[in-house]
Amino acid sequence: VRVAVLFGGRSTEHDVSCRSAASVVQCLDRSRYEVVPVRITVEGEWIVGTDLATATVDEAALRAMTPEPDGWRPTIVESLFRALEALRDVDVVMPILHGPYGEDGTVQSVLELAGLPYVGSGVLASATSMDKEFTKKILAADGIAVADGVVLRGADDEVTRAERERLGLPTFVKPARGGSSIGVSRVDDWAQLAAAVDAARLCDAKVLVEAGVPGREIDVGVLELPDGRLVASPPLEIRVVGGHGFFDYDAKYREGLTEFVIPADLDPDTTEWLGAEAIRVFRTLGCAGLLRVDFFVDPERGLTVNEVNTMPGLTAMSQFPRMWKAAGTPYPELLDLLIATALA
Ligand code: DAL
Ligand code: MG
Repeated sequence: VRVAVLFGGRSTEHDVSCRSAASVVQCLDRSRYEVVPVRITVEGEWIVGTDLATATVDEAALRAMTPEPDGWRPTIVESLFRALEALRDVDVVMPILHGPYGEDGTVQSVLELAGLPYVGSGVLASATSMDKEFTKKILAADGIAVADGVVLRGADDEVTRAERERLGLPTFVKPARGGSSIGVSRVDDWAQLAAAVDAARLCDAKVLVEAGVPGREIDVGVLELPDGRLVASPPLEIRVVGGHGFFDYDAKYREGLTEFVIPADLDPDTTEWLGAEAIRVFRTLGCAGLLRVDFFVDPERGLTVNEVNTMPGLTAMSQFPRMWKAAGTPYPELLDLLIATALA
């Protein structure tokens, strides 16, 4: 089976994508798969590489497989057309891309147009799941609890006094379409709001000011099996260690700042409820293949969906592979399932 692995991309999560893809390429069973690495640069150029079939694949090896062309460089559009031409004979594409221009339906739409089967959600589910405003609206319409929030659309938009009273403190200020907590700040005092909004606006013109939700931070993975059944992983609790503020970029990707507890220490009813709710979120958003649903769990408020990820982090440290490993599905088998479902 020839598998194209797309990685990098134009978003602020470019480096995270490289790390996710390195883990994926490392774990793909080489007796079954031939890997065609495709690097998308920060500028948006597509570079089709060759599989060196190296024993250890890290980010440097991935780069070596997809070298920059020397001398003449194609335009972005030319590079895209050449890449699609080169991918004509692959069986399946794994868009291991996080954030806008990768996880938001844009790349998925190119793959649809090219008639290439791919892992994960389609155009609409990717687009709505990438945008925290629309994710919330769609989930809330189906009665799924989400955090209250205010959307700032233009540079002049402000959080009114009434909205401040309604949201309370702390609030979390987020780029509406982002990931890995890049551009996210916690606001404990309204005097910090303006700086937090400015920081989020560096990532996205649309900003979300969200009420802090009390509770434990618990993630659940959903997988679509080749026969169409949906299964939920054991819940994973995120514990940020040693006074580190919240599960931010450092806590996500630097060793030692975060502890994962799998399965989370919860009563059986709550565990079952989480799994069922995660599957309901997957269905409501119309996802395919895989999804990670991030919850807050509180004895009084029950479950609140914080956000979803249609292409959750797949680095060796990330939650999704570790949840499934705990469920008895090691990383290579998880990849087999994702590919089999994409081809089903
Ligand atoms: N957006 C990152 C990759 C995650 O949620 O895992
Ligand atoms: Mg995310």
